[in-house]
Amino acid sequence: MISPSSSLPSVPPQEAAAIEWERKPKTIDANLKDYDAAYREFNWKTVEREFDWSRTGKVNIVHEAIDRHAAGARRDKVALHYTDYAGRDERYTFQDLKVQTSRCASVLQRAGVKKGDRVGTFLPRTPELYIAILGINRIGAIPVPLFEAFMEQAVEDRLGDSEAVVCVTSPALKSRIPLAKLPALKTLILVGASGARAANEISYEQAMAEAPNWVEPEWLTVDDGLIIHYTSGSTGKSKGALHRQYAMVGHYQTSKWALDLRDDEIYWCTADPGWVTGTSYGIYGPWTLGITSVVIGGRFDPDRWFQTIEKYKVTMWYSAPTAYRMLMSAGEAIPKKYNLSSLRHICSVGEPLNPEALKWVKRITGLAPHETWWMTETGMQLICNYRSKDFPIGCTGKPFPGTYATVVDEQGKEVPPHVLGNLVVKPGWPSMMKEIWNNPAKYQEYFRISGWYVSGDTAYKDEHGYIWYQGRADDVIKTAGERVGPFEVESALVAHPAVAEAGVIGKPDEVRGQIIKAFVALRKGFQPSEPLKKEIADFVKTTLAAHAAPREIAFVDKVPKTRSGKIMRRVLRAWDQGLPVGDISTMEE
Ligand code: WTA
Repeated sequence: MISPSSSLPSVPPQEAAAIEWERKPKTIDANLKDYDAAYREFNWKTVEREFDWSRTGKVNIVHEAIDRHAAGARRDKVALHYTDYAGRDERYTFQDLKVQTSRCASVLQRAGVKKGDRVGTFLPRTPELYIAILGINRIGAIPVPLFEAFMEQAVEDRLGDSEAVVCVTSPALKSRIPLAKLPALKTLILVGASGARAANEISYEQAMAEAPNWVEPEWLTVDDGLIIHYTSGSTGKSKGALHRQYAMVGHYQTSKWALDLRDDEIYWCTADPGWVTGTSYGIYGPWTLGITSVVIGGRFDPDRWFQTIEKYKVTMWYSAPTAYRMLMSAGEAIPKKYNLSSLRHICSVGEPLNPEALKWVKRITGLAPHETWWMTETGMQLICNYRSKDFPIGCTGKPFPGTYATVVDEQGKEVPPHVLGNLVVKPGWPSMMKEIWNNPAKYQEYFRISGWYVSGDTAYKDEHGYIWYQGRADDVIKTAGERVGPFEVESALVAHPAVAEAGVIGKPDEVRGQIIKAFVALRKGFQPSEPLKKEIADFVKTTLAAHAAPREIAFVDKVPKTRSGKIMRRVLRAWDQGLPVGDISTMEE
């Protein structure tokens, strides 16, 4: 938590003086032409009219994202281009997706899934993943996407908490689903299964082949569930942010004004649907607009990434700072091999984009990535830089029209320019999460400062109204753009037989933003050693997830805790940086 306003640090004014303006042509063809006018006048009600449900009263995201396009002029327009550069190279029109998601819906129905049920998806980034998520939505059930790198503990936590009744997965990934510990989970739908199957397993391909081409969407209200994304906080296990159907209003308009998507776009969102960016802006936003999306499978590979832009003539690219930095560190020779001239707009999300990376992307593409700030819980972009407006390099941006984000002290009072405070949002934007699944108390914590949604980030505003992200106020870690809770990693660490206690922090890192560093106290009889470090890190990799495994481990005699037993991560951070530990009067003896 940051301290009350009286002692809030000021951000030095030379930072503002260092502003470098990104000059834009005066006659830019952006969808949002005049941010200031829109900010004054815009009303979300006008966006509701873009959806058929505003006339019919019948709500379902799949109708708005797929069926209405398939019934109209976009019927044969490509909705999804897919390649994995390993044999699969496919395209799906809106009509194809209508058929595929109908079939998938029917398969789910036959497996007993009903409106409101939760259904896990645990698949690599393939067309089947996109089809499954929308197939689940079609019958009014609630998708719970799991990132394919999750290992058993992470899978158990998420499918257990959501009480998913079915999971769409693959033969390779299913071994990480501990069925015996998941009483609600009755059936697995296996993509790519061959040979014998257990009684509770269905072959996706076989069932899809027998299913009808059309399943009418389950008609819902705007308040019904859309999706649950699990995300991490600084305490406890990951929590499920449930979004409602109405969120589509926010996805649609931000895709139009911040991503600036237009009808002839070839849009590439690099995020996996296991994370919120991969659904809000990999599925719902672009497809409610009827846009052509590119998805590539397989692992990150700089060559493939630039090749993708050339291959599909990508016009709009939405990615993350770690990816830009990884491309940058792979060297300029790679982008020089490819024609990147199709690009006309780039956006960035997930962590602050440092000026070096921004300038590098600008050098190789001619375009500066525009920041978009938001969170799993907010469902949509809230603070952005817009194509039609100059912005200072390094700033996070301005609140999206129709929303109000600002910086306040602990009492909820807005602080003057250049004073650090809590980054907060006035509740009521269209895609604000509906609840934290199974945990009303956690939900309430987001509103601990009266009148505001508290993001957990710190920021300041400048005299022009730009917001500058400064960091987290809590212990949440952002590593390579992925949000990791220290508690989850600590729990995984102490399950290793050699580990008595563990404390975990995010350590600043040039490429990944942060890396996970663990301080580990060993049990009696175990000696610190390099092989043991590797063994412990590998243990987290194989039980939780590779991206959640510590890249650095330091052995300590004791993990610093308060007398009430809370790990003092502030002290760990000071140790890591070789800085004074400050006030430790609350530390246990
Ligand atoms: C951070 C990702 C700086 C922030 C959509 C936030 C950012 C957390 C930005 C949410 C940005 C996201 N600049 N920081 N443009 N965008 N963040 O839930 O700390 O994975 O609270 O959602 O990422 O991460 P999450």
